[in-house]
Amino acid sequence: MASDSFLAIRGLGKTFAAKRWWGGERGGTVALRDVTLGLEKGRTLGLVGPSGSGKSTLARCLAFYEAPSSGEVWLDGQNLWSLGRQERRAMRAQIQLIFQEPAASLNPRFTAGEIIEEPLVIQKWGSAQTRLQKACELMETVGLPSQAAGRAALAFSGGERQRLSIARALALQPKLLILDESFSGLDLSVQAQVANLLLDLQKRLGLTYILISHDFGVVASLADEIAVMDNGCLVEHAATADVVAKPRHSRTKELLEASLALSLGGALA
Ligand SMILES: Nc1ncnc2c1ncn2[C@@H]1O[C@H](COP(=O)(O)OP(=O)(O)OP(=O)(O)O)[C@@H](O)[C@H]1O
Ligand SMILES: [Mg+2]
Repeated sequence: MASDSFLAIRGLGKTFAAKRWWGGERGGTVALRDVTLGLEKGRTLGLVGPSGSGKSTLARCLAFYEAPSSGEVWLDGQNLWSLGRQERRAMRAQIQLIFQEPAASLNPRFTAGEIIEEPLVIQKWGSAQTRLQKACELMETVGLPSQAAGRAALAFSGGERQRLSIARALALQPKLLILDESFSGLDLSVQAQVANLLLDLQKRLGLTYILISHDFGVVASLADEIAVMDNGCLVEHAATADVVAKPRHSRTKELLEASLALSLGGALA
């Protein structure tokens, strides 16, 4: 049952109010409707659904970027949205979200080292020297040479910037890592490299992942289980093999077919 899980999302709802230019609010967009979902520690969930189905909103509600309108989120026995300031600060470090466009979320004027250190600075962790040392260690962890710590973020390739965002997200030793469309802009060989890196880190650090994509194929090979969103609702959630072999919801079938057509198209091109 979801309430006992490591990550337990219960009846989560989110409505964005529509603001009128003369003031006041009316109507609005319902982005999440009564989403209930459980995920165990060390597992990988693939969260798929068409554009606008609420995937990023769900991620943002989990990672404290957006307050839900209703429902609860529990991680490791703690109710996220009822924590006090200090506890919330500690919990924020536990859940890291890697944004949809890593290039846009990394300040191009910062060096790689500064980018990785930033969360440590915000959390007032260690001295300047220990932070730099930690940043260099993290670069090695994600397979980047620590000698490149002084290089500007702009000077890294797309795949390397993806690794930088992962290193930055790992700086505070999170328990839950959410990657929102993080594979989309990468070519296939780099996708495979990042996928291997994620699997390796999961084994070593016991991380729990949520991988978000509108493309089924991108997450299916990595995810233990798949959750399908449609119009703000969770319409299907089961083990990846079961979803692939026996999709139940029409939206799941559509996504599967679209993904298959894409990979066939790729193979023929
Ligand atoms: N800050 C906001 N203000 C108003 N509406 C929003 C806001 N953020 C999201 N929405 C709306 O909520 C719905 C869900 O959006 P969301 O970004 O979660 O979808 P998504 O599944 O991540 O889509 P995509 O695959 O395109 O990234 C959409 O209708 C979107 O327009
Ligand atoms: Mg999104």
